[in-house]
Amino acid sequence: MTLPASDENDRPAPGSGPMRPERICPSCLSEVPSGPRCSACGFFEGPAEDASSPVLRPRTVLAGRYFVGLPLGRGGFGVTYKSRDLVSGERVAVKEYLPSALAGRSRNGLLVRLESASDKHLFDQGMLRFRQEAQALASLSHPSVVPIRDYLEANGTGYLVMPYLEGKTLEAYLDGKGGRIPFPVALDVMIPVMDALRRLHRAGIMHRDISPENVFITHDRHVILLDFGAARCEVAQSKKGLTIAFKHGFAPIEQYLGHEQGPYTDVYGVAATLYRCCAGVPPPAAPQRAERDEVRPPSELGVEIPLRSERALLRALAVRPEDRYQAIRDFQRDVTPPGSDGPGDDGVLGSSKRLLLITLGLIGVVLLGVVMVAILGPLLKRL
Ligand SMILES: Nc1ncnc2c1ncn2[C@@H]1O[C@H](COP(=O)(O)OP(=O)(O)OP(=O)(O)O)[C@@H](O)[C@H]1O
Ligand SMILES: [Mg+2]
Repeated sequence: MTLPASDENDRPAPGSGPMRPERICPSCLSEVPSGPRCSACGFFEGPAEDASSPVLRPRTVLAGRYFVGLPLGRGGFGVTYKSRDLVSGERVAVKEYLPSALAGRSRNGLLVRLESASDKHLFDQGMLRFRQEAQALASLSHPSVVPIRDYLEANGTGYLVMPYLEGKTLEAYLDGKGGRIPFPVALDVMIPVMDALRRLHRAGIMHRDISPENVFITHDRHVILLDFGAARCEVAQSKKGLTIAFKHGFAPIEQYLGHEQGPYTDVYGVAATLYRCCAGVPPPAAPQRAERDEVRPPSELGVEIPLRSERALLRALAVRPEDRYQAIRDFQRDVTPPGSDGPGDDGVLGSSKRLLLITLGLIGVVLLGVVMVAILGPLLKRL
């Protein structure tokens, strides 16, 4: 996978030792002269946040190594921060396990505090799954799965460290395109996601939260899957967790019911994301569909989609798990029109691959032409 290389100027100069946290801007993460306003991005650092804020205070340093900047996102199960590795100088993203239904932050701005002592078991179980998943992901390498660089525990919770990706989520990408994109473009985005899921499923890891917010498109057009949900799955088993656990429209019925989950759970998430990309709206929420299924085929919503692909999409969106494709591979085979990119493993958007092939083809034709002229030119002259 091509990850954005961190700016050479950002790295600590050889021999200069670790970076100094007081000189890092919590917003753009540049190393700048300390002062209230960042000379690189203009960020004004006001007085510290109020003590009741559930996010870590900017400038916290974790494990003596990771400078914590502003939050990138805050969901029901964790907070992700812009961060910097003070040793290597790399920009990283640090995700903190913080299930909001169970825990908040103590007034010292650091320690994670349980809302009720009776939730301790659930919190611990969720954290165990968070750690196990971090370890499993760290040992797996795929161009479309965000790499896990480090895992650490501090402040009564767990943190995982990933490279900081430059780009935007698929959700933001769709917003920038007026809310929807043509089916072939949507497929180009989701093929690397399906390639990644096939690899993950082989390793026994389910994602469980496929949605446009968790698919990231980097500036150099790589598609990367974020935000795995083992901890979410654990906490969701409680009544409190259930209220925040699922993204309506993207989560299948077995997640709401707490039933067994498998690769077919991610099949539903991928199909719902594809549907959302080209139809402009997600399918109705699974519990609503279980009562009365009113999902409309994308073609009825004006989407140009091959009949075979639409049939595959609707089968992948079956409410009952047993009516769905059981494996990503089968869905991917049927939803992809013949001639489009089939399963691959390089994580590059399909259209980029096509562009590369076309460019190589053109270069080949030009070279052939040059060779022909070189050989035939003298012959023709002689005639
Ligand atoms: N490695 C990364 N590089 C850059 N941005 C990231 C990275 N990881 C996450 N983000 C950004 O932070 C947002 C939130 O991260 P993430 O999806 O992991 O958690 P969440 O959805 O807020 O939490 P939850 O686990 O509770 O659903 C993402 O949508 C993305 O915009
Ligand atoms: Mg997310």
